Amino acid sequence: MKIARLTLSDRASAGIYEDLSGPEIERILTEAGFTDIDWHRHVMPDDRAEIETLLRSLCDQEKCQLILTTGGTGPSARDNTPEATRAVLDRELPGFGEAMRMRSFDKVPTAILSRSTAGTRGQSLILNLPGNPKAIGECLPMLIPAIKEAMRHLGE
Ligand code: MTE
Repeated sequence: MKIARLTLSDRASAGIYEDLSGPEIERILTEAGFTDIDWHRHVMPDDRAEIETLLRSLCDQEKCQLILTTGGTGPSARDNTPEATRAVLDRELPGFGEAMRMRSFDKVPTAILSRSTAGTRGQSLILNLPGNPKAIGECLPMLIPAIKEAMRHLGE
């Protein structure tokens, strides 16, 4: 199974800090029972055009079944992930972002600052996660059943 994880961060891509978010995604998916994963790993700056190009390639050429992004979902000027994602989606699945914001808001009032979304392009599922590794741990596990079900539908 081909799964891509993209860390979208000017600072992580410049080596200013270590990317802990990508490895956290791998840890959670492995723990959730995903096996035989051919990981496509990327760490790149918050350039909208570059993100769109990579997302299209991972869907159309690499045929990744699942693409998880982390970072760039907030309100800062350089947070471009939701726009880049929407630009490449065939169909949006807004429930993923809604659930993350709603469920996290009780514990973390700033959770509603994330504009993350999800959706499909061809047979690929693309999902935005917030950038903080702790936030990934708060959001990704509860989404696993819906991710698996969406992938099953897309593979039909
Ligand atoms: N969601 C959870 N569950 N936990 C968090 O700590 N941080 C929020 C939000 N979502 C957070 C969260 C904050 S402070 C921001 S700015 C946004 O995610 C966007 O983060 P990003 O730009 O790194 O994607």
